[in-house]
Amino acid sequence: MCGIAGYIGKRQASEFLLDALKKLEYRGYDSSGMAVLSEENTLNCVRSIGRINALEEKLKGMKSNGSIGIAHTRWATHGYPSEANAHPHSDCSGNIFVVHNGIIENYKILKEDLIKNGHKFQSNTDTEVIAHLIEERFKGSLEQTLADVLKCIEGAYALAVISKNDPGKIVVAKKSSPLVICIGKNENFIASDSSAVAGYTDKVIYLDDGELGIVTKDDCKIVSIANNNKVHKECCSVDLDVSEIRKNGYEHFLLKEIFEIPEVVKNSTRGRMILDQGLVKLGGLEVLDQDKLRNINRIIIIACGTASLAGFVGEYMLEEYAGIPVEVELGSEFRYRKPIIDSKTAVIAISQSGETADTIASLLEAKRKGALTLGIVNTVGSTISRETEAGVYNHAGPELSVASTKAFVSQIIVLALFTIYLGRTRDMSLVMGKRIIEEIDKLPCLIEETLKNHEQIKSLAAKYSKYKNFLFLGRKYNYPIAREGALKLKEIAYHIHAEGYAGGEMKHGPIAMIDENFPSVFVVPNDSVYEKMWSNMEEIKARRGKIIAITTKGNKNIEDIADDVIYIPKTLEMLTPVLTTTPLHLFAAYMGMEFGFDIDKPRNLAKSVTVE
Ligand code: M6R
Repeated sequence: MCGIAGYIGKRQASEFLLDALKKLEYRGYDSSGMAVLSEENTLNCVRSIGRINALEEKLKGMKSNGSIGIAHTRWATHGYPSEANAHPHSDCSGNIFVVHNGIIENYKILKEDLIKNGHKFQSNTDTEVIAHLIEERFKGSLEQTLADVLKCIEGAYALAVISKNDPGKIVVAKKSSPLVICIGKNENFIASDSSAVAGYTDKVIYLDDGELGIVTKDDCKIVSIANNNKVHKECCSVDLDVSEIRKNGYEHFLLKEIFEIPEVVKNSTRGRMILDQGLVKLGGLEVLDQDKLRNINRIIIIACGTASLAGFVGEYMLEEYAGIPVEVELGSEFRYRKPIIDSKTAVIAISQSGETADTIASLLEAKRKGALTLGIVNTVGSTISRETEAGVYNHAGPELSVASTKAFVSQIIVLALFTIYLGRTRDMSLVMGKRIIEEIDKLPCLIEETLKNHEQIKSLAAKYSKYKNFLFLGRKYNYPIAREGALKLKEIAYHIHAEGYAGGEMKHGPIAMIDENFPSVFVVPNDSVYEKMWSNMEEIKARRGKIIAITTKGNKNIEDIADDVIYIPKTLEMLTPVLTTTPLHLFAAYMGMEFGFDIDKPRNLAKSVTVE
């Protein structure tokens, strides 16, 4: 949700900033901009509506020399996407420029006071008040003024500020929105996440809430906003592989990421399964007192969007095989409830980005109430990975497409591993532990086989793109997958409306909408609820509804009832979601392509939702 970049050093700042913005574009892409401070101490700002390449075009004809600069790619919160609302924002005199990710909740009242004092505003954003407040209170030191200003700001922010009145530095601050300072040799970088500096440095300092950083070419000092005391911070090395953030011959990141899934499953499981003992080894959980983990009697999974649907698959797995009651809660709801939590409750936050604001807020609430907090997170070093007591990384690699695909599958895989990990300390037998591990081990090959259906799925997308509505139906392990199929179709091919429903719920309402113009996608592997789903297919057929079925290879009889069938290989029931997901992800991707959409960056969305 908005990407921030900053540079101070020996290069042309604009070159790094442009490169960084392209890597951060997945965070928001309705407008962008940068401000560069030249050696002659002039500030040049360029802003553009639309994607980063529009900014790049604009920069070609503009003065942007200088080795200090800040930049931003926006996902609108306050003020529609326009050049005036694009960041960086400045004060009245154009001496101070600010980029911001987050929401200033009390901006209206601050703005009214500033206007009374004669300040002239150019945008409808909440961010602009910060530049004017700095202008109003400036007494020579940018960092002291910013610290002073932040004391009257309510809300969330990751900020980077430069000023020609106190040049030679970038001042940054953080509260509830992510920000990293990346350390180079005679140069330093600022970014919303470390992927932006891949290829430049691998040394990262994670700013924590309430901290302010003063970043110069050769130094980086962190202080507490509250009392100005120096804070000692560790500089971490991160593994940033530039090739992972390239399309590698694919037309879209989304397709690349779907086709990477077999490899992702190998990476998520590598070194974690001990077949002959039917055990799973999760290094990230070893820091815990194992008795504490053994004693938990309830799990609450907290997540948003697609990650929550992986959580629902985990709920079925953990209850069936580890014998622990599980509830899945949306971050945006859990944070405002009065949950009953004790020290025997484990709260697992699932998040690809590790930065989703609602998931973080819920996690912190659970932590305050004494729960054991765990994370299943893909982004190394992210807020959730740092705020949880222990956790498991997905190792899915950077996911750049806004729609989450490979991370979703890896979340299910990690939940399966977690099920064995916990199950084997409880009632799960050696035989069952071994059986699940054997089946997980086969998954990469089985996913490869599923991916071979891509041409068939592409032609199905062409055939069905004329329909405006879809119903996705599944039961038990594949009920969350039906919801995921619908979510992806809405997200990527947004001319189509889709709903994901539990097969048994269909006749309690949605069936009213079914006719020959309203197709249904049935997620029906050959499992314990297959017969029940068959009855649901009959009910749809009786209303002349079209059926696309995803089922297990060998289920030939389904061709008698379904209009189109996509076959997947056979696996253990609890692992079928790993195989049924891929055709649905491909279907949504090809549908989006049918409409000519940018399937990596669907309209109105952003990859990581760092505002409430
Ligand atoms: O980074 P997270 O996994 O916490 O993100 C959660 C959701 O915002 C995310 O899964 C969203 O629903 C995706 N765009 C779905 O494809």
